[in-house]
Amino acid sequence: MSSKPIIAASILAADPLELGKALRESQEGGADWIHVDVMDGHFVPNLDMGPRTVEACKRVTDLLVDVHLMIENPDTYIQQFAHAGADSITVHTETCTHLHRTVSALHEAGVRAAVALNPATPVSAIEEIVGLCDMILVMTVNPGFGGQSFIMSTLEKVKRIREMARVQDLDLKIEVDGGIDSHNAPQAVSAGADVLVAGNSIFNHPEGITEGIQAIRASLSS
Ligand code: DX5
Ligand code: ZN
Repeated sequence: MSSKPIIAASILAADPLELGKALRESQEGGADWIHVDVMDGHFVPNLDMGPRTVEACKRVTDLLVDVHLMIENPDTYIQQFAHAGADSITVHTETCTHLHRTVSALHEAGVRAAVALNPATPVSAIEEIVGLCDMILVMTVNPGFGGQSFIMSTLEKVKRIREMARVQDLDLKIEVDGGIDSHNAPQAVSAGADVLVAGNSIFNHPEGITEGIQAIRASLSS
């Protein structure tokens, strides 16, 4: 587990007309990663973003671009997202019949491989694959929309995955995504999370993007 938690700014909450500005401010304001939510209108009810968004992000920031695929048949798009510049790609275990093959395909495409679990998906779903993953994403809301309330009970899963990684001596990142703010970020980190995705609490912070990032960062150092 890395010592300093990583803050991933989720651009789903940013104004699409001001995306370049939002990305620059995120980088200057202290975000570590940019999180791009891809939604297909099938796996999740919402529809948003694609490889062009990833390619556009790479043009204005040199932060790591973390692509979260909330889509059916993610294998079909791995090459396109890798080619667009994704550094890390997350697939949902609920969408992958042959998850081992998909994780291998991610590595073959030259990206970090991550697997996400919905709130109702048990930790056992990743037990046989965790040793091959760079990161596990624990959804702390049901995927598909920004601005939802954090589901506290998901932190038990974070603890169990962190323990699994410790027992197997894995160099594994655990990412939490959904409803993260300066109130629950410290709890997520003490449960074992080391990557915090935040959309609404950064891009809709009343004082601005930098202040949103700094509020989360400050909550972690107190
Ligand atoms: C939800 C997405 C999240 C979302 C988080 O399905 O995966 O990345 O943007 O947004 P907030 O932080 O507003 O819950
Ligand atoms: Zn996400």
